[in-house]
Amino acid sequence: MININLENKTILVTGATGQLGREMVRILAKAGANIIIHYHSNEKMALLLKEELLKNNVKVYIVKADIKSLDSVMEMKKELETNFLLPDIIVNNAVSQYHWTNILNQDNKDFIDQFESCVLQNVNMAKAFIPHMIANKCGKVIAINTECAMQCFENQGAYASAKRGMDGLLRVLAKEVGPYNITVNQIAPGWTISDNDRLNHSEVQPESDKKIPLRRRGTDIEVANAVLFLASSLADYITGVYIPVSGGTVMPTI
Ligand SMILES: NC(=O)c1ccc[n+]([C@@H]2O[C@H](COP(=O)([O-])OP(=O)(O)OC[C@H]3O[C@@H](n4cnc5c(N)ncnc54)[C@H](OP(=O)(O)O)[C@@H]3O)[C@@H](O)[C@H]2O)c1
Repeated sequence: MININLENKTILVTGATGQLGREMVRILAKAGANIIIHYHSNEKMALLLKEELLKNNVKVYIVKADIKSLDSVMEMKKELETNFLLPDIIVNNAVSQYHWTNILNQDNKDFIDQFESCVLQNVNMAKAFIPHMIANKCGKVIAINTECAMQCFENQGAYASAKRGMDGLLRVLAKEVGPYNITVNQIAPGWTISDNDRLNHSEVQPESDKKIPLRRRGTDIEVANAVLFLASSLADYITGVYIPVSGGTVMPTI
């Protein structure tokens, strides 16, 4: 039997308090990893998650930072170095939310917000945590992109452009840090069922479901499963990829 065992790994998930992040930290802790729960404003959820994850007999640390700010991310690094552990694996998952509208009506500050949240988050996290991975000659960067980066639907100008920018950045990063045995990969979820849907009983979306080859939305657990795979040694020789977890709505070409 093959087991995924992350017992000697420390993993930082940004936006662990969000809809998808909370499931990622749950499954990574179940695989034995020490977890750094990063949050921005939802301390209550961070504390609840910590209590829950500790039941897996792993170490858990909560840290707050604004991922759009290099200073704040460097402060987070300093705090982890002093009080806990530096991560072997980072999952750049956080995203800031804004109101979607067409490009002509979208305020330029929303484009900047999304650029900071998607592109600069990955720059800031790389600057803070990759030097430690280089020193260890081993590490993994997993970033959460979206199927929207391929679909480029109306009203998604700020989000899609930022996520496409993030994709370019991460492909370059994969080449730059590959020689140090560091992998850089992306998971691109579709419109995913999470706690909000369970609360609102909105899991089934007939209009959207019929356009998905697998005829249903994926779940937060299915996205987390893909993160778990990329975090494991099973994915040691995979780098530079963009993996949709979207039931086939987008299919990157070869
Ligand atoms: N949900 C989906 O259907 C879906 C589909 C495709 C792609 N995605 C991608 O999946 C990832 C997670 O999405 P989600 O739906 O789970 O989002 P979410 O529920 O809105 O959670 C966002 C997370 O990001 C954190 N955050 C927001 N602004 C921040 C900032 N300035 N600095 C630091 N942290 C910040 C939030 O922290 P606090 O809560 O503590 O404030 C929260 O933990 C994103 O990259 C998103 O683009 C999601």
